[in-house]
Amino acid sequence: MFPLRFFLFSLLALPTHGVVYQAPAPTAAVHEAAVPTGTPIAGNYTGHFRPQIHFSPPVGFMNDPNGLFRDASGTYHLYYQYNPTAVVAGNQHWGHATSTDLYHWTNQPIALFPHLNVTGIFTGSIVIDVNNTSGFFPNQTNGVVAIYTGDGSDDENQRLAFSTDDGFTFEQFSGNPVLAIGSRAFRDPKVIRHKETRMWVMSVAFANDRAIGFFTSPNLRDWTHASSFTFHVIGDVYECPNMLPVPLLEEDGSVHETVDLLWISINPGAPLGGSISQYFPGHFNGTHFTAVDEEIRLADFGKDNYATQFWYGVDGDPLEGGALSIAWASNAQYANDVPTGPEGWRSSMSLPRRNFLKNDADIGWTLVSNPFDLGPVIGAELASNDSLANGILVAQGGVNESDANTGTFVIAVNITNINSSTLRDDAAVTFTISSSSSGETLKARQNLSGNHSLVLDRSNTRAFTNSGFNPRIETELVFSDEWDMVMTIDRSVWEVFVLGGKRSATLLYFPEGILDRVEVATEGLDGQTQVSVRINELNGTWRVESTA
Ligand SMILES: *[C@@H]1O[C@H](CO)[C@@H](O)[C@H](O)[C@H]1NC(C)=O
Ligand SMILES: *[C@@H]1O[C@H](CO)[C@@H](O)[C@H](O)[C@H]1NC(C)=O
Ligand SMILES: *[C@@H]1O[C@H](CO)[C@@H](O)[C@H](O)[C@H]1NC(C)=O
Ligand SMILES: *[C@@H]1O[C@H](CO)[C@@H](O)[C@H](O)[C@H]1NC(C)=O
Ligand SMILES: *[C@@H]1O[C@H](CO)[C@@H](O)[C@H](O)[C@H]1NC(C)=O
Ligand SMILES: *[C@@H]1O[C@H](CO)[C@@H](O)[C@H](O)[C@H]1NC(C)=O
Ligand SMILES: *[C@@H]1O[C@H](CO)[C@@H](O)[C@H](O)[C@H]1NC(C)=O
Ligand SMILES: *[C@@H]1O[C@H](CO)[C@@H](O)[C@H](O)[C@H]1NC(C)=O
Ligand SMILES: *[C@@H]1O[C@H](CO)[C@@H](O)[C@H](O)[C@H]1NC(C)=O
Ligand SMILES: *[C@@H]1O[C@H](CO)[C@@H](O)[C@H](O)[C@H]1NC(C)=O
Ligand SMILES: *[C@@H]1O[C@H](CO)[C@@H](O)[C@H](O)[C@H]1NC(C)=O
Ligand SMILES: *[C@@H]1O[C@H](CO)[C@@H](O)[C@H](O)[C@H]1NC(C)=O
Repeated sequence: MFPLRFFLFSLLALPTHGVVYQAPAPTAAVHEAAVPTGTPIAGNYTGHFRPQIHFSPPVGFMNDPNGLFRDASGTYHLYYQYNPTAVVAGNQHWGHATSTDLYHWTNQPIALFPHLNVTGIFTGSIVIDVNNTSGFFPNQTNGVVAIYTGDGSDDENQRLAFSTDDGFTFEQFSGNPVLAIGSRAFRDPKVIRHKETRMWVMSVAFANDRAIGFFTSPNLRDWTHASSFTFHVIGDVYECPNMLPVPLLEEDGSVHETVDLLWISINPGAPLGGSISQYFPGHFNGTHFTAVDEEIRLADFGKDNYATQFWYGVDGDPLEGGALSIAWASNAQYANDVPTGPEGWRSSMSLPRRNFLKNDADIGWTLVSNPFDLGPVIGAELASNDSLANGILVAQGGVNESDANTGTFVIAVNITNINSSTLRDDAAVTFTISSSSSGETLKARQNLSGNHSLVLDRSNTRAFTNSGFNPRIETELVFSDEWDMVMTIDRSVWEVFVLGGKRSATLLYFPEGILDRVEVATEGLDGQTQVSVRINELNGTWRVESTA
């Protein structure tokens, strides 16, 4: 949950803002009349800025992903921090959607509503209680338990809600809260099953103390504080911790064991401003998490990736092919202000990602993140060239905004046989994604000589101006004779994955004209360098929903 109170202060400090969220006083009302129960809210996904393969809410404001789990039938569940009644943060519910491929989503009825003593249903997680440790399930082995932060007027505490129908409808536990310490900044429980100790383990943020608490429980109802992780260098407030085993990727690409990962979302206090995530590889021994070192590692070198959550599988194991995650693709600095509001919605999720940890020969411990299988959304190949040394490849996509594939691309580039002693100083690969109607551009440039800097530039997109909206992001990459990238473009969400996913970035962009043309160029290369480029459309997944 990103801190609404911080938001409130920053909004109050800015007289130009018209909308300030006021938390309603606690009442016995189960839900507001304006918020539908038992039926999904209809969405219109045709808007100019609407992502076509990313998840965004049907209407209203979305922030953190919550309660991610995969049920026994293989359906992925995504819940999310949701304000169904306005396009700014507040009035937090858990929205809900389901998918079998993580790209084609079905919006479901809202799952959790504010209720007696809880004015906001804040961030949390879900587990499947196969062994009925909670005692909530008279007659089944697929009971679903949500563990969330209940936000009241002067307290944040952890509460349970349970579902006997695979997570579609929930009942509040009568013994709530199950964990309360009288703090206004104690939130975002992420629970996993710890196999070695046969206990449930909760990571939860002591947000303002910049510490992560680990609590253990045999039954999800009774929690014991085991330890706190207090290392702090960056970030003013800690939120949305996740701690879980993640597959260890060996240098040869094989996987034989897991390493524990502690993930901490920080907001504010990101090096680029606002919110971002930090992670620590390490080991959790049942009570304490010990990081391998005290390095600062950011999960994303862009600006718009926050509040990551990892999916809980049927047996609590990391899912095959990497631990699966999704993040909120925005930044708390301007999430309430982005220009999608007039279309009736704000915020989308990142692409779903497969994650590994690797102790890399070049850069040491790193997260390796790649898009979850894009196969179900790969559209027509627009252009490709497998020997594009010192050449230009151009792809013109559709220009009709009503077409779900317009403004969506995936660009893949492999460069091999890079010989630093024979490249020109200006050797580079450049990307220009442009609008044929407005001339606006997104640009990226990777230096293949010299400093190996990678620049992502959204400065020439004109539909949004905000002092926090960094126009350019620059990072330096470490590589020798090979470089590769997968880049996705989706109306207003830009993601790049470089060096096999060892680095990745998420950036929002808001152009007046839809970006419909891609140009990839290389320069300064020698005769040996091999460059392979492929540009495809992405098949939008939301039009069925919009006409439903
Ligand atoms: C859907 O949204 C678009 C863009 O905001 C708007 O132009 C269109 O009228 C909407 N369609 C319906 C059926 O509401
Ligand atoms: C709601 O809060 C009041 C005041 O703290 C308390 O007496 C009551 O038991 C709570 N009810 C529930 C259902 O949590
Ligand atoms: C459920 O109980 C069985 C038998 O004791 C055990 O092997 C399994 O790990 C348990 N699973 C969970 C998720 O608790
Ligand atoms: C679950 O636990 C409750 C409380 O102990 C018990 O009444 C119920 O029979 C159990 N259900 C199953 C399926 O074991
Ligand atoms: C429990 O499960 C059995 C077998 O599926 C079924 O016959 C019975 O009606 C169920 N009882 C309840 C209370 O759901
Ligand atoms: C877990 O680690 C802590 C801190 O290093 C240590 O005090 C504790 O004894 C360890 N527990 C086990 C079971 O090894
Ligand atoms: C994407 O759409 C095109 C055109 O409708 C279709 O031919 C192709 O099969 C689709 N791709 C996938 C993965 O469904
Ligand atoms: C690929 O690009 C190179 C360099 O511009 C060009 O010479 C070649 O003709 C292109 N190949 C194809 C198949 O278009
Ligand atoms: C754009 O696409 C829509 C839906 O396919 C179609 O109705 C409309 O005529 C198209 N407009 C243009 C200018 O081609
Ligand atoms: C790189 O280029 C230099 C100069 O031509 C050459 O001596 C060297 O063998 C090349 N290295 C590789 C790995 O091809
Ligand atoms: C690399 O990239 C930066 C930023 O785009 C640029 O200023 C610099 O001249 C480039 N070349 C080298 C050799 O670093
Ligand atoms: C890049 O290399 C990977 C791994 O060999 C391959 O799967 C992919 O198709 C290649 N992409 C391009 C554009 O050549």
